[in-house]
Amino acid sequence: MRVLAIESSCDETGIAVYDSEQGLLSHTLYSQIALHQEYGGVVPELASRDHVRKTLPLIEQALQDANTRREQLDGIAYTAGPGLIGALLVGATIGRSLAWSLGIPAIGVHHMEGHLLAPMLEAQRPEFPFVALLVSGGHTMLVRVDGIGRYQILGESVDDAAGEAFDKTAKLLKLGYPGGPQISRLAQQGNPQRFRFPRPMTNRPGLEFSFSGLKTFALTTLQQNGDDEQTKADIACAFEEAVVDTMVIKCRRALEQTGLRRLVLAGGVSANRSLRQKMAKLAADQGMELFYPQPQFCTDNGAMIAYAGCQRLLAGEGEPLQITARARWRLEELSAL
Ligand code: KG4
Ligand code: ZN
Repeated sequence: MRVLAIESSCDETGIAVYDSEQGLLSHTLYSQIALHQEYGGVVPELASRDHVRKTLPLIEQALQDANTRREQLDGIAYTAGPGLIGALLVGATIGRSLAWSLGIPAIGVHHMEGHLLAPMLEAQRPEFPFVALLVSGGHTMLVRVDGIGRYQILGESVDDAAGEAFDKTAKLLKLGYPGGPQISRLAQQGNPQRFRFPRPMTNRPGLEFSFSGLKTFALTTLQQNGDDEQTKADIACAFEEAVVDTMVIKCRRALEQTGLRRLVLAGGVSANRSLRQKMAKLAADQGMELFYPQPQFCTDNGAMIAYAGCQRLLAGEGEPLQITARARWRLEELSAL
């Protein structure tokens, strides 16, 4: 089965062609970072309009790169939520209409299921069951995964998502948007001994996260120590270490609690180098397996939507003719394959 996918849930237009026999045939990505940079974050209406401009040309490019004619497609997948409703509607409208015009099925994919299954695009794929740490700009959760659509949320953030905390802290350090990669870069010049930030919610049982206090901690530290370059780097370093350590502690706990020996990292924040290194150490110490996507498939992309959509289309799922998108959508509402 050959599937064309459209990801347009936020500030990236991602298109991919995935073949269930041959794997990923092509993928293109257009990032709107430059467009939103001057506002310090994503402006939803500008995002929607840019998806309108970019989606069709990118589809043409992805089909060409995959050496595929429209008539060779067996299905279309598009991100149907959660995300910015206007942005989602662009991909859903184009995807559903294209599928109708070609007489093939369409499937609306859950964005976080896309992230969750992105490690399946790699040569070394995790087997089920596993524990997944899903860390993006909008979500932070630990999930027990027993199969596609068989998700049990073990813990979530009670306030800011991990990526959101990176972005907000970057903003107060006057770094650009998105903040995760910028904090990570600056942190490398930081002195890890100078400041120690708390590891929120680790001194009590449970798998919930809370990151909003760390941003406030960064602000107070900045106000007390000045905003010279070295201080900013030291704050970036302390902040990143606190977030990463907290996630390592919670992952260890989730593995203990479930008795599982496989850990999957996914979502934009899983591109973080320090997170990968510390999780690799956890995996080595505990003798368990660790999986994560290559960095370009950690952040938003079309390939993960193509993979997830293809699995659901193969199982016979599909959308009716109406075009639907959902700003909010719980992962646990998905049907098990
Ligand atoms: O998954 P994603 O591309 O979009 C959402 O679904 O939200 O995640 C974007 C988030 C942003 O908050 C960004 O700052 C963060 O992922 N991010 C990182 C890194 N790369 C992206 N955070 C920490 N370190 C990184 N290297
Ligand atoms: Zn995402």
